[in-house]
Amino acid sequence: MSYAFQAEGLVKRYGDFTALDGVDLAAEAGTVLGVLGPNGAGKTTTVRILATLLRPDAGRAIVGGCDVVAEAGRVRRLIGLTGQFASVDGELTGTENLALIGRLLDLRGNEIRARVKRLLADFDLTEAARRPVKTYSGGMRRRLDLAAGLMGRPAIVFLDEPTTGLDPAKREELWGVVRRLVADGTTVLLTTQYLDEADALADAITVIDHGRVIADGTPAELKRIVGGQSIVVRPADEADLDKCGAVLATVTGRRVDSPKRGVLSVPVGSDGDFTAVVGELDRVRIDVTELALQLPDLDDVFFKLTGHTAAEETEQEAIAA
Ligand SMILES: Nc1ncnc2c1ncn2[C@@H]1O[C@H](COP(=O)(O)OP(=O)(O)OP(=O)(O)O)[C@@H](O)[C@H]1O
Ligand SMILES: [Mg+2]
Repeated sequence: MSYAFQAEGLVKRYGDFTALDGVDLAAEAGTVLGVLGPNGAGKTTTVRILATLLRPDAGRAIVGGCDVVAEAGRVRRLIGLTGQFASVDGELTGTENLALIGRLLDLRGNEIRARVKRLLADFDLTEAARRPVKTYSGGMRRRLDLAAGLMGRPAIVFLDEPTTGLDPAKREELWGVVRRLVADGTTVLLTTQYLDEADALADAITVIDHGRVIADGTPAELKRIVGGQSIVVRPADEADLDKCGAVLATVTGRRVDSPKRGVLSVPVGSDGDFTAVVGELDRVRIDVTELALQLPDLDDVFFKLTGHTAAEETEQEAIAA
């Protein structure tokens, strides 16, 4: 298998505190690796090591075939990095910020102009391009920051919480940008606190907590950790709820829950359960308005693995800020 980047046993200590305690991760070329974890889990530390901004105390990381410590200069030429906190210059305009990066990258004038134009359009910043960045909203800065990370057309892109602070519409636009990058063959590492984002974009997900990997796999594999699918039924007549519940319990042999009023849910026991439930409901003549096989979402996974929801994390962060 060809990995675009790969880390093994990364350890990072700050004094007595161990921020990373042996992190392994890898992404195949042309895929998106999602890195999930609560605040303080070690996501930014991991990204900074891969991006050569921080040296690991142990372990090693290979990015684009180059060692991040021994060949840091080469790695830097291959990657684009967008940090968790915007790093563009407030006194310069959007265009000037991007052009400056183009010059730092030694691009030619016409190439710089073409890329700046394209990126400003991609990130919906064309209208604001001539204004100093200090007049931009937080979301606009964040988008410019992302554009800046792409000026060098990097083969590998590290995005540390790229959509934090973006409104839902702009988030979706950014998802589009990530999908286009991947379609062009770019490999992306994305940290996020939005599990729907990881679900929508990531081919594989590594979950980190307290500096250790606590799970990894495809979104579907992670969802299986929470115990697979459920059958969800809403009887047309609420008076049939008990009867319906009895059918679900008998067929699956599992405990039936009512996640909301008028709806019953039961974990799938074995492969034939869904068909058997459909047949039995028909046989005892219970009409339903809703009947579905449902996968758990990543919020369920996160809760199971870390003991709290991602939303709680976000709330705590908001309170701390
Ligand atoms: N320079 C530093 N000195 C001391 N401790 C640090 C330093 N940088 C990070 N840490 C600690 O290392 C741990 C991991 O931090 P990191 O920024 O990697 O977490 P994160 O997963 O990115 O969190 P967040 O979701 O809040 O961005 C945290 O406990 C943090 O306080
Ligand atoms: Mg971080």
